[in-house]
Amino acid sequence: MTAKKIDGRAIAKDIREAVKADVAAMVAEGYNPPGLATVLVGEDPASQVYVRMKHKACEEAGIKSFQHKLPATSTQEEVEILVKELNADPEVHGILVQLPLPDGMDDEQVLNAISIEKDVDGFHPLNIGRLAQKGREPRFVPCTPNGCIHLLKTSGIELEGANAVVLGRSNIVGMPVALLLVEENATVTICHSRTRDLEAKCREADVLIAAVGRPEMVRGDWIKPGAAVIDVGVNRVDDETAKRGYRLVGDVAYEEAQQVAGHLTPVPGGVGPMTIAMLLRNTVRSAKVAYSE
Ligand code: GUN
Repeated sequence: MTAKKIDGRAIAKDIREAVKADVAAMVAEGYNPPGLATVLVGEDPASQVYVRMKHKACEEAGIKSFQHKLPATSTQEEVEILVKELNADPEVHGILVQLPLPDGMDDEQVLNAISIEKDVDGFHPLNIGRLAQKGREPRFVPCTPNGCIHLLKTSGIELEGANAVVLGRSNIVGMPVALLLVEENATVTICHSRTRDLEAKCREADVLIAAVGRPEMVRGDWIKPGAAVIDVGVNRVDDETAKRGYRLVGDVAYEEAQQVAGHLTPVPGGVGPMTIAMLLRNTVRSAKVAYSE
């Protein structure tokens, strides 16, 4: 069997085009374009790349973006003051504080300072809390987890009653994607560093989501034949033949997985583009709500 590639770039492109059309329609009606503010604290190279990509995507969609960079030496209070200023700015409909924050900073406090109406990243404790409760609707759902679910649904993968295994329990991906899978009526197992017999757990998965940040950890023989595999990992591995001296690989050994899985996302070009597409979509939704109030 050769797995069908889930083309995140193509699926994200459709969303971005729909977002762009929505923005154009809003502007044609006389509204200001939606606005996204990003807050980057420190100089983490990967975060700098992600934030840059988010701004470029905003520009392409006609969304106004505001970039705020603070030094790693900033105090917690300085970051929270900036967030509160953005809460009060009518041009800003979405606020994204890029994670991780520098060591010693309390990310829960910072995320808690974001106005829930502008929490387009979906990480405000209230949004996450609602996601974890039956019958409660978060205003926004975190972008990468939502992107994973969208990829599965668009590919026609049945989630209801499926055995879904999530590798990793991070606040950014593992835990929220597990909650979203529960909402889709999947039977969910969350695996982590203390899980016993991890490979056997993975082999039971109809849907396997790998979000651990370990290059090519999931081998072909960990995968149930025909399973849908979503690889969230983006890992740099040294490669002298590559121009930059490294290449990007996922948490899944792609070539091996391709021989066994039914559907598989590549890295890059799988989940990554979806994160940005979902962020743009959330920002436009936020602006629409603001303009309808
Ligand atoms: N760091 C890694 N992924 C994300 C994300 O989706 N949002 C934010 N704010 N930080 C991240």
